[in-house]
Amino acid sequence: MTMESSPAWLALQEELRQVGKKTIREFFQEDTQRFERFSLEAAGLFLDYSKNRIRPHTMEVLMDLAAQAHVEDRRDRMFRGDAINNTEGRAVLHTALRQRGDDPVVVDGHNVIPDIRASLARLRQFSDDVRSGRIKGIGGEPFTDVVNIGIGGSDLGGVMTCEALKPFSDGPRCHFVSNVDSSHLTETLKRLDWQKTLFVIASKTFTTQETMTNARSAREWFLNQGAREADISQHFAAVSTNLEATASFGIAADRVFGFWDWVGGRYSIWSAIGLPLILAIGMDRFEEFLTGAWEMDTHFRQAPLERNMPVVLAVLGVWYRDFFGAESHAVLPYDQYLHRFPAYLQQLDMESNGKRVTRDGTVIPFATGPIVWGEPGTNGQHAFFQLIHQGQSLIPADFLAAANPQHPLGDHHRILMSNFLAQTEALMNGRSAEEVRRELEESGLSEEQMATLIPHRVFPGNKPTNSILFKTLDPRTLGALIALYEHKVFVQGCIWDINSFDQWGVELGKKLAGVILPQLKDDAAVVDHDASTNGLINQYKAWRN
Ligand code: F6P
Repeated sequence: MTMESSPAWLALQEELRQVGKKTIREFFQEDTQRFERFSLEAAGLFLDYSKNRIRPHTMEVLMDLAAQAHVEDRRDRMFRGDAINNTEGRAVLHTALRQRGDDPVVVDGHNVIPDIRASLARLRQFSDDVRSGRIKGIGGEPFTDVVNIGIGGSDLGGVMTCEALKPFSDGPRCHFVSNVDSSHLTETLKRLDWQKTLFVIASKTFTTQETMTNARSAREWFLNQGAREADISQHFAAVSTNLEATASFGIAADRVFGFWDWVGGRYSIWSAIGLPLILAIGMDRFEEFLTGAWEMDTHFRQAPLERNMPVVLAVLGVWYRDFFGAESHAVLPYDQYLHRFPAYLQQLDMESNGKRVTRDGTVIPFATGPIVWGEPGTNGQHAFFQLIHQGQSLIPADFLAAANPQHPLGDHHRILMSNFLAQTEALMNGRSAEEVRRELEESGLSEEQMATLIPHRVFPGNKPTNSILFKTLDPRTLGALIALYEHKVFVQGCIWDINSFDQWGVELGKKLAGVILPQLKDDAAVVDHDASTNGLINQYKAWRN
């Protein structure tokens, strides 16, 4: 039986026809309990999903789809340490990194929990020593700045969480260099005192071209400032699973923080990859961050499917992607500190579920992972919301906000929240031609002027949104929020029968760059690619200084 011929899929096609007959607004008029029915709370997060194109039966059939995909069984296999990343033969155990109890988690006959605790203890010791100034730079002064050099999963988690938890930072300033474009490193180093700067080279593989190039240039910069080779061990640390490569780079063994191949790059912020965040906020706060994620894990493991927040978000995403043809999904945090959250979710979601074959290699005939994008509100309102309100694409969106601001200041937070609330209301209700007409009549316009304006001022409405509210954006809440989206992506991967934990799609470009790089070294005309690539290479050569 294929997915499209399965009972749940066929039932959803029929449900689409039924739901299409009514608007969300009409569903609210019919059901006074809709908000209570379609909202839930878990791990400090409140989710309102009542402004979706669903009725109770829709959720029942969507849950049938999740059950049909054996979501619970697959979830338990992930938490148990089974090698569910089948193309790489690996377990997927970022959840073990934040497990709070001592229940054993066994990989290849070995309980990994004591290893995780030992790693956390080392991170605590090192971060305490740096933060207190016991570990100093070569000038004898404490480190004031940390530069994390990494990319993708070895960068985005660090940047996003350090930005999100900036109000909790009482350690060194953290900077992140990811792009191999030398501007990134140059601009970052320009402001730094080399004697008070600690470099963290973060790379799971320790072979990533961009990271190793930036790391070598950072080392060169450090030596050019007046440091000696011997000083490198004091100013460079590494986070990696490749301990041989960190040693050959010259990083002292006591400054290398390892993790394991069962931690995927985009799921690694809970591991030693979190070092910049730990240095910024301290280990106690980092433990709170882990606790928040563990609370969401516990909810995910224990709540029935229909009351399970990650499952609810996941099936709603599948509903729009596969039955409404929604190509993208917007994430709109009404919180400036979450300004990198959409970028973080892009890797989490798109690298996990941007796949075209099932776990056994069969081409999937329907849509899988959406394009994920977003910006903080209210900025987005003044940029791209126009298209969400009146454009031709259906863009389901998650709105996120904290009930309490980090910096109470006049009316700022109430204004922010009024916009957060007004947008989802406007997207749902829209504004009909009659409503627009009534409004224009009051302003005394002529019939002709009204006729010209009305079509432009109509909002079709019926646009789906989720609202996620939390008390304050603190480490615990952020942990829960990230875990929520991790599990959402996992559940969607189960439904689409995707391996969400590999990323073969990034390989081809890397390989071809390896072919092109030596061809850029001289001025000889290049002829062995397609005409476009040859033409561009040769144009570049002609134009470069
Ligand atoms: O190219 C994609 C990727 O493999 C990501 O999955 C990963 O997070 C990133 O590169 C960085 O890899 P590494 O941590 O090994 O440098």
